[in-house]
Amino acid sequence: MAHRIGVIGGDGIGPEVLAEGLKVIAAAGVAIDTVDYDLGGSRYLRDGVVLPDEVLDEWRDLDALFLGAVGTPEVPPGVIERGLLLKMRFDLDLYVNLRPFLYPPSDIDFMVVRENTEGTYAGEGGFLRKGTPNEVATQGSVNTRMGVERAIRFAFDLARGRRSHLTLVHKTNVLTFSGDLWERTFNEVALEYPDVETAYNHVDAACIYFVDSPDRYDVIVTDNLFGDILTDLGGAVSGGIGIASSANLNPARTGPSMFEPVHGSAPDIAGKGLANPTAAILSGAMMLDFLGEGGAADRIRAACADPDTQLEGTAAIGDAIAVRVQG
Ligand code: IPM
Ligand code: MN
Repeated sequence: MAHRIGVIGGDGIGPEVLAEGLKVIAAAGVAIDTVDYDLGGSRYLRDGVVLPDEVLDEWRDLDALFLGAVGTPEVPPGVIERGLLLKMRFDLDLYVNLRPFLYPPSDIDFMVVRENTEGTYAGEGGFLRKGTPNEVATQGSVNTRMGVERAIRFAFDLARGRRSHLTLVHKTNVLTFSGDLWERTFNEVALEYPDVETAYNHVDAACIYFVDSPDRYDVIVTDNLFGDILTDLGGAVSGGIGIASSANLNPARTGPSMFEPVHGSAPDIAGKGLANPTAAILSGAMMLDFLGEGGAADRIRAACADPDTQLEGTAAIGDAIAVRVQG
């Protein structure tokens, strides 16, 4: 049976890189039925639509969602991010944002488990006396025991299948409420995983280690905002954001999970065939893993790592990887 995939090309380079991702999945011999959704900044500018509830309901029956990139400079910040991307993450309960960093020329081989539904992203806060000299803006961080624990459990399970080492990254020395909940939960769950070695790093120190000694990491678990920032840094130290892939997972499988490159829509190079599609292709491989097509996913990853596929140009890179995958 073909997997049913919702495809959201989005804005800028999104559709170009996603086309290569789909090309490589086809070359890997995995049957998929795709349904296209025209969503993102361009769609919003055309008719004001961001993400209708009917579309969200339609998605609940799909096997996965494959997304290029969304966002255009003409739309004010937050409209598409909150109304589309974060709405998908929250409403489909994609509570793990999994971002692997593997860079064979170096010792880098670690994964970040970013909590994906809470923290400062939850939208708690507001204005008082907006526009006056006494204006107040607050933006709280929401951390539930349930939300923290399920991300941490996912990370322990993941570490167990790798090198059995898990690092909690937070800022417990300053964020004494949320940090305390994270640390206590981490230490309690750790008792159930005596075979997994644990470590703790403050997020500022982790930034140094990402650059200086990334080989210390196997799996990292952290909150939403720290995970956002750290994974851009992770991309920068492991081959660049052009190859950084991600999965927004609903591990309970109560709905489809969503797979997207870490990079954005890069409007400055859109339509020029310059974007590196590798991040989208590797995100496609993560999608295949989650759909139980691990063999095809492994072949795609091997093809992406092949030095002969390091060409220039979106379609040329996609073609070279597709040929390798076919064998
Ligand atoms: C990411 C992006 C998003 C985030 C933005 C576009 C809302 O930066 O996926 O890392 O902050 O999560
Ligand atoms: Mn980000």
